[in-house]
Amino acid sequence: MPESSGKVMKKNIVLLPGDGIGPEVTRAAAAVLRECGHEFHHQFEFREMPVGGTAIDATGTPLPKETLDACNKADAVFLGAVGGPKWDALPVGKRPESGLLALRQGMGLYVNVRPVKLLEPLRGISPLKAEILRELDLEIIRELAGGIYFGERGHGIEHGKERAWDTESYSTAEIERIASFAYGRAEGRSRRLCSVDKANVLSSSQLWRKTVGGMNHLYPTIKLEHMYVDNAAMQLILRPSQFDVMLTSNMFGDILSDAAAALVGSIGLIPSASFGTGAPLFEPIHGSAPTLAGKDAADPIGSILSATMMLRDAFGLNLEADWVEQSVVRVLAGGYRTPDIAGPGSKTVPTSGFMEILREEMQRTLEHAERYGWGV
Ligand code: NAD
Ligand code: IPM
Ligand code: MN
Repeated sequence: MPESSGKVMKKNIVLLPGDGIGPEVTRAAAAVLRECGHEFHHQFEFREMPVGGTAIDATGTPLPKETLDACNKADAVFLGAVGGPKWDALPVGKRPESGLLALRQGMGLYVNVRPVKLLEPLRGISPLKAEILRELDLEIIRELAGGIYFGERGHGIEHGKERAWDTESYSTAEIERIASFAYGRAEGRSRRLCSVDKANVLSSSQLWRKTVGGMNHLYPTIKLEHMYVDNAAMQLILRPSQFDVMLTSNMFGDILSDAAAALVGSIGLIPSASFGTGAPLFEPIHGSAPTLAGKDAADPIGSILSATMMLRDAFGLNLEADWVEQSVVRVLAGGYRTPDIAGPGSKTVPTSGFMEILREEMQRTLEHAERYGWGV
């Protein structure tokens, strides 16, 4: 039996496969977690629950009470993706996506960490030139429980025509709790924090900038910079290596994380972890990719890395997480790619094929680690 990071663990994990490619990528995440449980003798118990469009079809609501209750009782939750054309005509509040927002709110999740890191074997498929891309490794800390996603909204008739509105609103307390997390994160990294806002136009952003800036004296070693979101979008493409930890509102983080994902090759590669007052939630940042659903073509890496974030950040199982991550990089170095990250000379494989090769590589990596140690 390999040395584990610590003691043997017993954990209850809720799986929320959702819609489109959600079930396929959830299967991939569950497979690596099962493999970790098996090799390191942890007891991971899985419970699958409906969410999103699938839940609407089965129960009439995108977040059944039983699903939220199970998530709140779990040690950690994994979500695939929700949404799809079948439910696109539904109004806000009744859509699959509304179920995901209600889940984040119902679990008290206000922090979303989105690490965007270049995987070395994929350097060649980045749309950026090597000298601009450099060692891309940044983290977007996205506020997850407030802002325009949860502000007042409405829809009415004005002078015989429709008008609809959503409101961006943040309180000092909401900004402080996400900012302290981001400052803490920067302390554990290169001590550079870039807070993104639109303080030249929005009063909610002015409060954001004032609050984040006003906390800098509590973290005197952190070099804080403020940047307007439009410039941040451009800087991400022109000189991404200037960023380390980026702090954003709910909506700015949603948009910038998809843009940042493109820099390292595919949105299918990026994981996320959400934290708050209860159990943490792990989900890839991509959506349900309806055109790929059922085609065995989805990139499972964002989900696999979300599972390794669960191992590391929810359970403290660093060695297990390293094992999976090193194996993923070795499979990529061997040239195996799902279609979204295929490049010249690569061997294109379906999702199931990638998972099979990963499983074999995990076994080889384990033998290698037992013989020569980890970190090789
Ligand atoms: P999307 O992320 O589903 O797809 C965007 C593009 O990336 C598409 O070309 C898609 O094929 C590709 N892509 C996404 N994930 C991939 C993967 N794992 N492997 C390979 N390629 C991948 O975003 P969209 O098209 O804007 O939205 C589709 C649906 O998903 C909508 O209903 C949307 O609301 C929903 N959505 C859900 C989540 C979530 O559940 N967290 C996130 C974003 C979008
Ligand atoms: C994401 C998604 C969600 C968001 C949607 C589906 C609610 O785009 O997780 O990035 O905007 O937060
Ligand atoms: Mn998004």
